[in-house]
Amino acid sequence: MNKKKKFIKVAIDSPAAAGAGTLAKSISKYYNLLYLDTGKIYRLIALIKIRKKNKLNFKFLKKKIKKLNLKNLQNKELLSDEVGNEASKISKNKNIRKLVHSFQVNCAYNPPKKFDGSCLDGRDITYKIVPDADFKFFVTANIRVRAKRRFSELKKLKKKISYSTVLKSIIKRDKSDYNRRISPLKKTKDSILINTSNLTKRACFLKIKKIIDRKIKN
Ligand code: C5P
Repeated sequence: MNKKKKFIKVAIDSPAAAGAGTLAKSISKYYNLLYLDTGKIYRLIALIKIRKKNKLNFKFLKKKIKKLNLKNLQNKELLSDEVGNEASKISKNKNIRKLVHSFQVNCAYNPPKKFDGSCLDGRDITYKIVPDADFKFFVTANIRVRAKRRFSELKKLKKKISYSTVLKSIIKRDKSDYNRRISPLKKTKDSILINTSNLTKRACFLKIKKIIDRKIKN
């Protein structure tokens, strides 16, 4: 008999540039899960704000988010340091977080039928967006390793930026993401800590695969 695969939900929280995105993509591909990089939603709003010269119209934003699809989040402009820093600022706004909440929940709990589950990464995924996830991870790395990774990503995208500027903005972003009042970044008790500082992408993937396989094969 053809046994139907179990629907799995993977939730990942992490500070900026810790390798969570790469990891989440490889896990999603391997287990056929819908992948959502939730930071991209905040980045999209930040980009809109920058384009509108800092004037965010909530009605306009509401319409945009209603029509949002995963393709909108593939825009390369979302990857710049300027947009990342603005995203960190606007994500402290309670109304903005409310606006994007249901899009994330929908991706996590109702992905298109062709998927066997979902994998979301962000800052509040393990305790606010998918609190009943089957697998919860907190992915982190040493701050200099993270800055080096982000710096080489931005170099590949031909962005003109120095390593020290990248390091400074990661320090600033950590401060803001960990210490904000609304949905701060934190490691929940039930999340498994994955420190990627000294691990290759493959080693990180295998570490998580071992944890997932152990549970779903039983
Ligand atoms: O993950 P990424 O660096 O693209 O996220 C950009 C910013 O968006 C973060 O610094 C954080 O402030 C915010 N964010 C958030 N909640 C999420 C994902 C991202 O507040 N779930």
